Amino acid sequence: MTCRIAVFGTGYLGATHAACMAELGHEVVGVDVDSAKLAKLESGELPFYEPELAELLQKNIKDGRLRFSSSYADAADFADVHFIGVGTPQKRGEFGADLTYVNSVIEELAPLLSRPAVIFGKSTVPVGTAMKLAQRVKQLAPAGVDVEVAWNPEFLREGFAVADTLHPDRIVLGTDKFRAGRAEEVARKVYEQPLAEGIPFLVTDLSTAELVKTAANAFLATKISFINAMSEVCEAAGADVSFLADAIGYDARIGRRFLNAGIGFGGGCLPKDIRAFMARAGEIGADEALTFLREVDNINMRRRTRMVEIARQSTGGSLIGARVAVLGAAFKPDSDDVRDSPALNIAGQIQLQGASVSVFDPKAMDNSRRIFPTLNYATSVEEACEGADVVLVLTEWREFRDLEPNEIAGVVRRKQVIDGRNCLDPQKWRSADWSYRALGRP
Ligand code: UDX
Repeated sequence: MTCRIAVFGTGYLGATHAACMAELGHEVVGVDVDSAKLAKLESGELPFYEPELAELLQKNIKDGRLRFSSSYADAADFADVHFIGVGTPQKRGEFGADLTYVNSVIEELAPLLSRPAVIFGKSTVPVGTAMKLAQRVKQLAPAGVDVEVAWNPEFLREGFAVADTLHPDRIVLGTDKFRAGRAEEVARKVYEQPLAEGIPFLVTDLSTAELVKTAANAFLATKISFINAMSEVCEAAGADVSFLADAIGYDARIGRRFLNAGIGFGGGCLPKDIRAFMARAGEIGADEALTFLREVDNINMRRRTRMVEIARQSTGGSLIGARVAVLGAAFKPDSDDVRDSPALNIAGQIQLQGASVSVFDPKAMDNSRRIFPTLNYATSVEEACEGADVVLVLTEWREFRDLEPNEIAGVVRRKQVIDGRNCLDPQKWRSADWSYRALGRP
């Protein structure tokens, strides 16, 4: 069954959702206020890097199922199903989430709706937001027009956005328990295809649905900080955190995924989501329940400082005048996203301590230049490593993991490598006569 869908916001979440909904056979309009972004998307070009997404975008535009518009009136007229996929960044100087974009979608859209519609929120929001939006929609929608707000959190990972959207682990839906609505029926039509594959469909109230997303991200962040805390202990004890992660990961209750120790988590989600979660818990009187997340954040930030310290040790206790090659700028591989990237943050700190830093990343160069114009950017691994006193591997791109020590041995000044992601084979580097160091490993 084909639905007419509008997706508000064409960032990572919105653009992926729009293209994937079209791929499921629906008629979709992607809406954004940024006309430059829309022009790119209309011509089949992505404003960011995401594997598989460009092909999906081009195919569905060509087949006439996907288009883009800056007009809310157009979207209100065209669609019966509306998805909110705009950003909820961290507020400036505060922990809380900035809901400006979510609110403005509701303020603009609701008065324009002239027939029954369901608005599904996908953005990550503080618990209680959906209920407030539902009340606001009631005030704004024209009299007699039934508009329902439901929450359908998104769990996609950058780098796997298409697969995660088309074949999610689960679909979660929160509906307003104080009204008999159509949201569940509509969601079943929208997700007919994935549901037919047997993907679990979990229906709950609005607050629980909002919390499922924040709790999932808080758990993932905690898992990473747990292994990074173990990494600190391993360093003090002369033990090996990678072996430890493998060994505890065999316990199915623990699991090996998200136990990779290194310079920690970054990106547009985990850091800001745990902070927004703490802020919201404070507002609703549950702050004590989440004080541990402060420690999760602290452990994470400490890994960056530790990396800088190890780099400093490798250059004889001072970085002044040292040449440092940084391989990786994106917050994780297969992404060009540098938001809250541990790699760029470390590169910046090292430069501040007086080193000359040369950065190379396979996809994130333009974004890095934009937000960190003072670093030197190289066009290849070899160029970044030219004359380097130490090479830091800070994002585990395959190209870096597969690097042969001899490929760059001739260009560096000193054969020293520091593995910020525990992604290199220590044996391989040491046997090629390199000094190899990593976080949490002897
Ligand atoms: C995350 C969640 O995984 C996703 O479900 C949610 O919808 C959005 O936030 P994403 O930000 O794309 O997704 O990246 P993710 O793969 O979760 O990695 C986040 C950060 O943690 C990266 O910086 C990564 O390098 C780091 N990480 C991940 C580790 O340091 N160790 C690990 O074991 C795993």
